[in-house]
Amino acid sequence: MSNNIRKKLIAGNWKCNGSLSFIQNHCKNVLNTMVFDPTKIDVLVAPMTLHLDYVRKHLTNQNVLISAQNVSKTKEGAFTGEINANALKDFGINWTIVGHSERRALFDESSQVVASKVTIADEHKLNVIACIGETWDDKSNNQTLKVLEKQLEPIIQNKPNWNNITLAYEPVWAIGTGKSATIDDVHSTHVEIRKLIKKYVGEKQANSLRILYGGSVTAKNAKELVSLQDVDGLLIGGASLKDEFKTIVEISSKL
Ligand code: PGA
Repeated sequence: MSNNIRKKLIAGNWKCNGSLSFIQNHCKNVLNTMVFDPTKIDVLVAPMTLHLDYVRKHLTNQNVLISAQNVSKTKEGAFTGEINANALKDFGINWTIVGHSERRALFDESSQVVASKVTIADEHKLNVIACIGETWDDKSNNQTLKVLEKQLEPIIQNKPNWNNITLAYEPVWAIGTGKSATIDDVHSTHVEIRKLIKKYVGEKQANSLRILYGGSVTAKNAKELVSLQDVDGLLIGGASLKDEFKTIVEISSKL
């Protein structure tokens, strides 16, 4: 099946980075000046929650979507320190990332917690980028597909609306290391992930589901990665904080 039905998504995950002056400069020099065709690709940035509104105020490029990096598994209530899906929607934020490997590893988020975040986001009609990925140990022991399946299982069991979900395949060992997965590995893993969705959810959902690749994407390797038929976009950390984000977006728009 051709991937023409799936519009590519180029997403920048700023993680716990940025300051007010960084945002002003990045909007002025990168986000507001990059040229892309919004009918061909979607472009999204995910600043830390505190900065969401400041980014929105400085973003004159209306075609750039804004996303949270996380959402609470709870609704409103006595949950000190949490930011719930309703608050994001109320604030005009229609996207969130969930299950980034840093949240899984450093903040003990299990796949069940990630799945409950997908569900609550879904209930509030938030678009979700749900991240999955194996560690180097998993890969070395040929466990990649098993691990990805285990991570997807609770999400699938909760029967979310797959139209609101994008998956991001991010091998943990490739994140922030400068070691991107090989083109062959990215291709075959994306094909396998789509097969899993086809098997457990359905062919229609599998064919329309966007699966992004993330892990040491730069302006040098972006074109080759995003050109792959089963790679429906990129989730970019480090390079999304630099001028090269503009290059990556412009390359992707010209494909
Ligand atoms: P990286 O991060 O591009 O810096 O490797 C990707 C991510 O964590 O989403």
